[in-house]
Amino acid sequence: MQNRIMITGAGSGLGREIALRWAREGWRLALSDVSDAGLQETLRLVREAGADGFVQRCDVRDYSQLTAFAQACEQKFGGIDIIVNNAGVASGGFFGELSLEDWDWQIAINLMGVVKGCKAFLPLLEQSKGKIINIASMAALMQGPAMSNYNVAKAGVVALSESLLIELRQQEIGVHVVCPSFFQTNLLDSFRGPTPAMKAQVGKLLESSPISASDIAEYIFDQVGKGEFMILPHEQGRMAWQLKQKNPQMLYDEMANMADKMRAKAKSGKD
Ligand SMILES: NC(=O)c1ccc[n+]([C@@H]2O[C@H](COP(=O)([O-])OP(=O)(O)OC[C@H]3O[C@@H](n4cnc5c(N)ncnc54)[C@H](O)[C@@H]3O)[C@@H](O)[C@H]2O)c1
Repeated sequence: MQNRIMITGAGSGLGREIALRWAREGWRLALSDVSDAGLQETLRLVREAGADGFVQRCDVRDYSQLTAFAQACEQKFGGIDIIVNNAGVASGGFFGELSLEDWDWQIAINLMGVVKGCKAFLPLLEQSKGKIINIASMAALMQGPAMSNYNVAKAGVVALSESLLIELRQQEIGVHVVCPSFFQTNLLDSFRGPTPAMKAQVGKLLESSPISASDIAEYIFDQVGKGEFMILPHEQGRMAWQLKQKNPQMLYDEMANMADKMRAKAKSGKD
């Protein structure tokens, strides 16, 4: 029987590239997103790569849409072998400038969307002894300045993944968490934050990545195959994480300097 994978946020960026990487292995794909046009384009590319599947609109904030999606996977595929909780949005702004609504929005999508995805699909994963791949971020580990709500949501995804790794071993369900640094996608389109200057700064960071979404999908495919739990696709990210574990204060000092620079830039109006 062919293997089956479901991906949230599959209509763009990393979600689309993960779909294409597994499509090249001949997997059947269940693709969801809030963007119908994005989903149609991913499905077209999946078919071009010689695989097939179905698309279903699904907002990860809405648990009933996720359970309906799980039901569709059961009806159409007879189950699921891998789930990828990838859907996410970008945000930025210093803590003092972020509203509580900014927090609710960020946590609802980037953290609770992953919690709900895991919960909705758990019965199917128990049947298949499948795998969970959660897309977090280096922000979960490094806590860069002016993105506290994003940092907290992604740190929550890492903590959830560690909890599930421990709890689900008995059911033989594999768990992986991916922490990429910035890379170029359409993530900036979803940006929510108090100032356009902050959005521009995030845009520059996305552009600065030495690796693409497709490189990251390739790395994830390889590392999941090797059974690696914590997947850090950027070399610089792996180095920074090692450094932080050895000397956290040095990293805090560096981040504080970065915060000063960002404030100065925002004040002078330059980017
Ligand atoms: N691009 C980066 O620099 C970067 C770095 C680290 C982690 N990530 C994470 O990678 C994941 C994929 O992001 P991307 O960079 O490919 O961005 P992207 O914007 O290109 O893709 C994200 C997709 O998620 C979908 N989405 C947004 N809100 C949704 C919702 N409520 N329900 C369902 N789908 C929703 C969007 O429509 C979009 O198709 C996200 O979790 C993001 O936080 C990205």
